[in-house]
Amino acid sequence: MQSPSPDSSGGRPSHPTRTSGLRSFSAGPGVLPSGPSSVQTLPSEFAELLTPRGVRLLQTGRHPGVERVRADPAWRFLPLTDVIDPRRAASVLALLERAVGPHLKPMSQPIPAETILLQEQNYADLLPKAVRVSTAMLESRRSRSWKAAEEIGLPAMLQSPSYRAMAEVLAGRALRARWGIQALRYGPGDYTGPHNDAHPEDPDARDGYFDLHVSLADAGVKQQWIQYARAGHFSELSPLTAPGVLAAYRLPFWHSVGPLVPRPRLLSRARRWVLLGTFLYAPAKPARPSRRVEPHGPAPRPTSRGAGHGR
Ligand SMILES: [Fe+2]
Repeated sequence: MQSPSPDSSGGRPSHPTRTSGLRSFSAGPGVLPSGPSSVQTLPSEFAELLTPRGVRLLQTGRHPGVERVRADPAWRFLPLTDVIDPRRAASVLALLERAVGPHLKPMSQPIPAETILLQEQNYADLLPKAVRVSTAMLESRRSRSWKAAEEIGLPAMLQSPSYRAMAEVLAGRALRARWGIQALRYGPGDYTGPHNDAHPEDPDARDGYFDLHVSLADAGVKQQWIQYARAGHFSELSPLTAPGVLAAYRLPFWHSVGPLVPRPRLLSRARRWVLLGTFLYAPAKPARPSRRVEPHGPAPRPTSRGAGHGR
């Protein structure tokens, strides 16, 4: 599925211990050299973008920021600024800019004037989602942006086993085998207004789903913040200006991304790319039927509910 919005994510991390098989992922240089240059392709495994701390998170589930949110079953958004290698982040951004940047499509959804002109009651404000961003059309394999992205290996990296494994580590539960991917870019003044990414009409997503975002900010980004709700108030702020941020979202929840503020002398490098995967939760496994004879009637029937489903 495609995430309904830019910059969206995260669950009760009774953290899965599915680390076997992950030890083969390394933080080695892979295809990317360290630092912007004439890189031709992205690494085939997401794990190659990670710092040693990121690799440790992937392999063991241990990270101070992740452990903090595990104590809070209501957490929704978790940004990690020390798991993506900043020099590799710069390499990825430079390659995206060169190969995919020319094929991005502007997406502009302003606030409709009718929201004020046709409002009939005081304080009955209704704000639809407004957004301005550039997006790669990865949902269409015939699009130029898909072809450009495929040539540098972007879909492969976002569909790699280590990307999914990291999503499971941060989601704290099993995810379905297939997931949607997107790529978008914020330029000066680009933003996403308040929205919640709820999908009540989709049976697979109505109970929640999970997003994993790789945020890559270039040197010309002075500021860009995500604002999000906690305990019913739009009270939380987090910067998205580090060169590489890995952000987990347990959707739906209210959030918005403020306008990108450029450094005037670096206007041509005022851009932030977001590479994201949108995951549905795997259905809960039915409980094994008991062979034991229950003294007080039949055992409860196995149920597929309980862990919920998401997208
Ligand atoms: Fe969103």
